[in-house]
Amino acid sequence: MFVRNNEGKTRVNSNLIKQIQKRRTFAIISHPDAGKTTITEKILLFGNVIQKAGTVKSRGSNQYVKSDWMKIEKKRGISVTTSVMQFPYKDCLINLLDTPGHKDFSEDTYRTLTAVDSCLMVIDAAKGIEDRTRKLIKITRLRKTPIITFVNKLDRDVQEPMEILDAIQNEIGACTPISWPIGYGKRFRGLYHIHRNETILYKSGHGHEIRKTHVIKDLYNLDLDKAIGKDLAENTREELELIINAYPKFDQNHFLASKLTPVYFGTALGNFGVDYILDGLTKWAPPPRFHQANERLVKASEEKFSGFVFKIQANMDHKHHDRIAFIRIVSGKYLRGMKINHVRINKIIGADAVVFIAGCRKRAEQAYPGDIIGLHNHGTIKIGDTFTQGEKLKFSGIPNFAPEFLRRICLKEPLKQKQLLRALIHLSEEGAIQIFRPLQNNDLIVGAIGTLQFDVVVERLKIEYNVEIIYKDINAITARWIESENSRKLEEFKNKNRANLALDSGGNLSYIAPTMLNLNLVRERFPNIEFYSTREH
Ligand code: G4P
Repeated sequence: MFVRNNEGKTRVNSNLIKQIQKRRTFAIISHPDAGKTTITEKILLFGNVIQKAGTVKSRGSNQYVKSDWMKIEKKRGISVTTSVMQFPYKDCLINLLDTPGHKDFSEDTYRTLTAVDSCLMVIDAAKGIEDRTRKLIKITRLRKTPIITFVNKLDRDVQEPMEILDAIQNEIGACTPISWPIGYGKRFRGLYHIHRNETILYKSGHGHEIRKTHVIKDLYNLDLDKAIGKDLAENTREELELIINAYPKFDQNHFLASKLTPVYFGTALGNFGVDYILDGLTKWAPPPRFHQANERLVKASEEKFSGFVFKIQANMDHKHHDRIAFIRIVSGKYLRGMKINHVRINKIIGADAVVFIAGCRKRAEQAYPGDIIGLHNHGTIKIGDTFTQGEKLKFSGIPNFAPEFLRRICLKEPLKQKQLLRALIHLSEEGAIQIFRPLQNNDLIVGAIGTLQFDVVVERLKIEYNVEIIYKDINAITARWIESENSRKLEEFKNKNRANLALDSGGNLSYIAPTMLNLNLVRERFPNIEFYSTREH
């Protein structure tokens, strides 16, 4: 591949291409309790990041141990994650990004999906596709991010695998089973890998380690009859004939366009079927390709460095209001000390970033497209900011999402109003919450995607800004950003709906809806007004 250098000549940058081809940057999406932590743990086991599973979280208790990954208890009782983990797997280098789940589900969860090249969707086979997963699929598909699916917990009583496939098909359009379970629950005997034409036999109780699996090549091998019994072997063959004919063949282009997902079955707890997914991921999931900027499409193979901020995380050193800005590298090579341009404020900085390799935070010497680097941020970096080696670019598609919960903030000490506002603007710039100021009064409304963020705000205001607050419920269910090309209609809308209008921290007009019914009615009544559920930074 040829790239243009500073003099406008083209030459091959084979090292850059090699580094790009090796990388797989992905996140796991799932509904709480589907098994995201468990599978992460097994993936880290295969990536040699941990030596024994069970170290991410000690079972049966809330005590999180050493590993810095996911759900790890921090001093303030807030679950803040390292967000990214890099490790090698076979010939690839994997960047696994955390998508905060459970109660710490937030805009960060959604926005992380803007920084990945593919997703692993984990489904609890007893429950099928659940709410949260559906929301995350929606975001992923908007961005045409390819999805690999893992149907988990086959060691339990689950729904019929065909029913699950049909549900997946309904959400994504098409699916191709790659592995297929032989029985489930107490009668779970193994997995047949359709593409490899091999069966691996299941034995419970080995979930904490990588074990040697018993492989039987060829579905019609009589060893299979001996291993699982003649009747079950014949049933499996019949079932597979049906399955292979009923679902489309795997098509790489459809997968890359997010129109088809390869489906794997297994049990994360039993560490069974997980390496099949990793093999699928390294084989099919795309390396970094390109990102759309407002000005042009930026290819990963371009020699000049560029990247965007998708997350800002509060650092432990809260006395200094220190934060790490997470940058997804889009193109070129990062080198420690290189000069990069903070495009929004047009300031050149000498880059001194950190990377997160195998769970440890280290100074980044070099990094490539697909990698995530962290820059210390003392308040000048915002979500959505672009860094380049000079070119004025702004990467698009790093939005704010309409809040799903809203509460009114009340100060315990009323004199601290100014301080509170400054602090809230600061926190909203990190992107986990949004603030809205109604046009008609001096209230301050906080909006979030997950309710834990409200507790995080209380804690951080107290510790970092010395401001104490409490929340009051308000009659609001969500917010929409308002725009119209017709200024007369917009004025009319504003006059009639003043009581429901507010400005967000960026001064953008928003409609605070008391109910979904109300929102739908107002939409019908004002067809010239656009109600957006996302807003670009
Ligand atoms: P999450 O991060 O998606 O929320 O899910 P997590 O991995 O924490 O898993 C949720 C529960 O499901 C855990 O049980 C976990 O052990 C269990 N689990 C995950 N994968 C499997 C599987 O393949 N088979 C079975 N049978 N269970 C599985 P828990 O009792 O809630 O927690 P714990 O005490 O075991 O940690």
